[in-house]
Amino acid sequence: MPRVLVVNGPNLNLVGTREPETYGSTPMEELNRRLEALAADLGVEITIFQSNHEGELIDFIQKEAASAIGMILNAGALSHYSYALRDAITAVQLPTAEVHMSNVAARETFRHTSVLTPVCIGQVSGFGYYGYAMALSYFADFAGEK
Ligand code: DQA
Repeated sequence: MPRVLVVNGPNLNLVGTREPETYGSTPMEELNRRLEALAADLGVEITIFQSNHEGELIDFIQKEAASAIGMILNAGALSHYSYALRDAITAVQLPTAEVHMSNVAARETFRHTSVLTPVCIGQVSGFGYYGYAMALSYFADFAGEK
């Protein structure tokens, strides 16, 4: 079964209680369960990983990339400034979909730039959980086309 990495960065473990007006009130664990159910329907295996530490995210990507067909990445605030994470995506050459739950373009100016977007296939922003679901559907089709 094709495998997709789902990687969440700093503070995304707090979705459900963190700024619910921005990120909703459904806990991340429940969103992960929904995504796992969708993955089963789509015939894709997913490996979900979250860390609050940049280096741990990079270690995970380096270790797991070779056995995956793609990555769904919500790097949280690291998206806006982590050249190290950007270099990791470039280094492993794993097709990556950048996801943000909130509409970053409608928020503070520092969120308008992502240093990751240029090395990703594209960015989905503002659709909450559905951003992950859209990216997963993409990779399920993408795997079929390969
Ligand atoms: C986020 C947007 C980022 O600006 C923020 O730092 C996050 C979450 C999102 O999912 O909307 O932690 O990536």
